[in-house]
Amino acid sequence: MDAVVLVGGFGTRLRPLTLTRPKQMLPVVDRPMIEHVVGRLGEQGITRAVLSLGYRPDAFEAAYPERRCAGVELFYAVEPQPLDTAGAIAFAARMADVQDTFVAVNGDVISDFPLIDLLDAHRGSGAAATIALTPVEDPSRYGVVVCDPDGRVQAFVEKPPADEAPSQWINAGIYVIDPSVLELIPEDRPASIERETFPALVQKGLLYAVAHDGFWIDAGTPAAYLEAQIALAGGTHIHSTAEIDPNARITNSVIMAHVTVSADARIADSVLLPYSTVPANAEIRRAIVTPDHHIATE
Ligand code: GDD
Ligand code: MG
Repeated sequence: MDAVVLVGGFGTRLRPLTLTRPKQMLPVVDRPMIEHVVGRLGEQGITRAVLSLGYRPDAFEAAYPERRCAGVELFYAVEPQPLDTAGAIAFAARMADVQDTFVAVNGDVISDFPLIDLLDAHRGSGAAATIALTPVEDPSRYGVVVCDPDGRVQAFVEKPPADEAPSQWINAGIYVIDPSVLELIPEDRPASIERETFPALVQKGLLYAVAHDGFWIDAGTPAAYLEAQIALAGGTHIHSTAEIDPNARITNSVIMAHVTVSADARIADSVLLPYSTVPANAEIRRAIVTPDHHIATE
């Protein structure tokens, strides 16, 4: 089965990290984010990942010139202009000549959501699209979903004001889509799957959802990019090439390749990107550190 992976956004919430590379090429515990996402798809039977590229497509082409990533075949679909989520999925599916029911995912979501549950529900319900749901405390930065007991979606509201969210269940950014849905997406302008396509399917009773309360994170903000890594590492992770002074104190942090940490530095709940340096006596807490920047997450 094919999966369209959306990786064409500008990653504005992760600037300045994303000024020089796309969000999905940022390192997440020693590997580019895209490898975590595509690797999990491959483990679940996806044989081809169609990358929907917009911003800096060259970064992906340079990293995977053989068109393979984490054991999965890649197809590069480069948009002529930003087409937004629905337009990007439709363009990529057309370019890659996707014919059958396919999976589509947001390329910044790292999750253990079982695809098989989504596919089983999709086949049994007559849905045109079936979407994964995950619970969150503050739904206001996500697509919020209300379903009836058989999983049919009654409402899909993208980024409602915090006090108006109709539920805690949000769009996890993992979809099973029938090719018939592509006919609803205009070819000549950008279109949002969250604001146009899904609400249109809700009207027709053709959007279904499957809820799952497992590991799920959208790594697209500084705080989430940080938390995703500490969660994946299961606490502190130090790359073998990092040079850490024996008198430095590191707790609950991810230290990547060629990092230098000097004496008596204290680092907690932080991520140090490759080649960053921490001077003696520095104190770093809940921050993302690069060779050029320190990015606070609170
Ligand atoms: N090719 C392409 N073209 N990709 C795009 C474009 C575009 O014009 N715009 C965004 N993307 C990609 C981003 O790179 C990202 O992988 C994905 O589409 C989703 O965009 P985000 O900007 O990360 O969206 P979000 O996090 O605010 O919200 C989305 O994800 C939430 C779950 O993580 C929505 O789908 C929400 O409904 C959802 O809850
Ligand atoms: Mg996102």
